[in-house]
Amino acid sequence: MRPCHMRQNRVAVVSVLIALSGFCAMPAVAQETVKIGVVIPMTGTSAAVGREIAAATKLYMAQHGDTVAGKKIELIIRDDASVPDNAKRLAQELIVNDHVSFLGAGLTPSAMSMAPLATQGKVPTVVMVSGTSVVTERSPYYVRTSFTLGQQSGIIADWAIKNGSKKAVSILSDWAPGAEAGKVFNQHFTNGGGQILDTLKVPLANPDFAPFLQRAADLHPDTLFVFVPAGQAGPFARQFAERGLDKSGIKLVGPGDIVDDDDLPGTGDTLMGVVTAGIYSAAHASALNKQYVDAYQKATGHRANFISVGGYDGMHVIYAALQKTGGKTDADAVVGAMKGMSWDSPRGPISIDPRTRDIVQNVYVSKVEKVNGAPWAVQFETFPNVKDPLKEAAAK
Ligand code: PHB
Repeated sequence: MRPCHMRQNRVAVVSVLIALSGFCAMPAVAQETVKIGVVIPMTGTSAAVGREIAAATKLYMAQHGDTVAGKKIELIIRDDASVPDNAKRLAQELIVNDHVSFLGAGLTPSAMSMAPLATQGKVPTVVMVSGTSVVTERSPYYVRTSFTLGQQSGIIADWAIKNGSKKAVSILSDWAPGAEAGKVFNQHFTNGGGQILDTLKVPLANPDFAPFLQRAADLHPDTLFVFVPAGQAGPFARQFAERGLDKSGIKLVGPGDIVDDDDLPGTGDTLMGVVTAGIYSAAHASALNKQYVDAYQKATGHRANFISVGGYDGMHVIYAALQKTGGKTDADAVVGAMKGMSWDSPRGPISIDPRTRDIVQNVYVSKVEKVNGAPWAVQFETFPNVKDPLKEAAAK
């Protein structure tokens, strides 16, 4: 959009009349809508992730209204089907054609591919799903409201060692967040005096866990560390039980992803007693969470999960930043407003680290138990204000 004075030069004779008639006010009126373009997988292997983020972002708007600092908020959801090239193209279209003021990024590979566009287009982008440390370093306009796998995997390794684990096998979904979960778990586990018998990598798309579970069982570990992403906890639990591993005495541990609340109600007894270190449980005991879980259940028919809060809090950080900037969407002002922001989320207290733009949050150790006949991840220990350990280690 050209500045008003340039257009006035081009129509010099009638410039005064045009200005008086309110022509110059038109761009300001057009800017009254602030668009948020969220790029997530609504179809394909990770469609559950898209469904959860879409539901939570819409729920946030339904609860908090669609006007902030005098601006009308419009949410645009685009399906990248988990394909990074799609994400890049969609982000480009959202920036160039839709003139979005904010982007929401989803899975790690897609968030990585969108980062140069956010930087060049100066578009503040909220990372709502990705759990890989490096993602927030790919653009100065990236701010994360999800989690990192490192945040959870070191804590569960320490817990396992403290509770007698000595020999572990790691089973990891074969992509960036899996590599990170394994790296941090294996490091903590061996530092604590434990031994990693093997690290097995399972393909991300349509995984068959059976051969990996068999190989793991043949090694006779006392502990199995597993990372599967959102949407795969159900199939994993089924194959775990089919091999009789739920009754083998091998301790199953992992980040919160393996007791995903979206899948947990359908897992029967198979995950009973599984201990995880996670950032969220629908069983988290707070009034805010109860309200969230009830509203989410009512809106979707599903139990709220750890992915959904990344979308819900992603909308909060955008709303709160706009309030702070008085509705200004300039990227440096917006990201400046987000840095250091802290608030109460359904998951507990969270904040944005002003140095790294990454999320700082409690990590809860939970055990799957039956409550009123259904499995829930019941939290029993809290590690407060956990930062991404890989960034903290790199800063030392
Ligand atoms: C990711 O995109 O990094 C991701 C997605 C789902 C998970 C964990 C990580 O459960």
